[in-house]
Amino acid sequence: MRPLFDIAMKMIIDTDPGVDDAIAIALAHALPEIDLIGLTTVFGNTRVDQSSRNARFLLDMLGSDAVVAEGASKPWNDYPFEPSAWVHGSEGFGDIVEVPQIGTNHDQNAAEYLVEMARKHPGDLTVCAIGPLTNIADALKLDPSFAQNLDKLVIMGGNLHCPGNITAHAEANIFHDPAAADAVFASGLNTVMVGLDVTLQTLLVPGDFAALAASSPKIGGFLNRISEFYLGFYKEVANLDGCPMHDAAAVLACSNPDWFGLEHTGLRVSQDGETVGATLADPNRPKVAVAIEIDAVATLTKLKTHLAALH
Ligand code: RIB
Ligand code: CA
Repeated sequence: MRPLFDIAMKMIIDTDPGVDDAIAIALAHALPEIDLIGLTTVFGNTRVDQSSRNARFLLDMLGSDAVVAEGASKPWNDYPFEPSAWVHGSEGFGDIVEVPQIGTNHDQNAAEYLVEMARKHPGDLTVCAIGPLTNIADALKLDPSFAQNLDKLVIMGGNLHCPGNITAHAEANIFHDPAAADAVFASGLNTVMVGLDVTLQTLLVPGDFAALAASSPKIGGFLNRISEFYLGFYKEVANLDGCPMHDAAAVLACSNPDWFGLEHTGLRVSQDGETVGATLADPNRPKVAVAIEIDAVATLTKLKTHLAALH
C-alpha cells in the first residue's frame, strides 16, 4: 500500500514465510505509516526457494509492488538445519500444498539488495528481520558501512528472561543460525530485539481468524486458512487455544515502539552444547534494546483492525 504521505517509514522485511510471517507482511502492507519497499527471503520455516515463492504469492494477493530478493539457503558454517515444517506446513502455508509461482525474484540477492537500499536511503531504512539472521549478517560482511547506513534493525528473535521454543534454551530464528545472530549482536547495528519475552503474550484465537475471514474474505480468508495448521501445532504441543503473533509483534514494535518496554544490554549467542542458540546478556557487547514488556491488547487490537480492512 503506497504511503499516504512521504514521512512513512521505509521498510524491508527479511522473512521465512511461514504463517506468522504472512500475517506480519500483510500488516506491514496495511499500515499507512509503513512503506514496504521489499522482502528479502531466507531459509527457516521453509526452504529459501519456498520462502521466495510464498513471498511473491503474498505480495501479488496484497497488490503490493514490493520486490522479493532471495537470500541464504542455509546457515553459516554449514550448521545443520531443517525447515520447521511441523509448525508451518510442508510448503510454509499450513496444509496448502499448491502455492503458485507468481512473478520472479529481484535480480540482486538479499544481501546485495539490503546493502544497496541502505546506501540509497541512509538513516531512513528500517529492516524488520523475522527469520534467521543470515541475510543481515551477510549484508554486514558485504558492506561494513551497512550498520551505519541503516536507521534500525528490528528482529523477531531471541529469549532473554524466558525459556526457548525450539529447544528449552533457544528461540527458533536464533537457533537456526547462531553464528549469524552472534555476528549481528556484535556489530553495533542499532538493534531492537522482539523475542519470546513479549511475543508469547500476543495470541490470536480461532475466533479472531474467523472474524478476520468474515470481514476480509480474500486476504483474511487466506490467513484464516493457513492459520489452522499453525493453531493445531500450538494446541498439540502446548494445549494453547491460540497462536502467537511473533512476527507481527516485531512489525508493531516498528510502528508503535511506545507499546514496548525495553531493557538495554549487550548480547551474545551460545554456539554449542545444549544451550546452542540461547541469547545471553553480555556486558562486553554493544547494547541492544530488548523488549521485555508489551501492551498486548493495543498491539493485537491494531493488528486485527488493520488486517480486517484489507480487501
Ligand atoms: O520463534 C518464532 C519465529 O520462528 C517466528 O519468526 C516464526 O515465523 C519462526 O520463524
Ligand atoms: Ca518468521
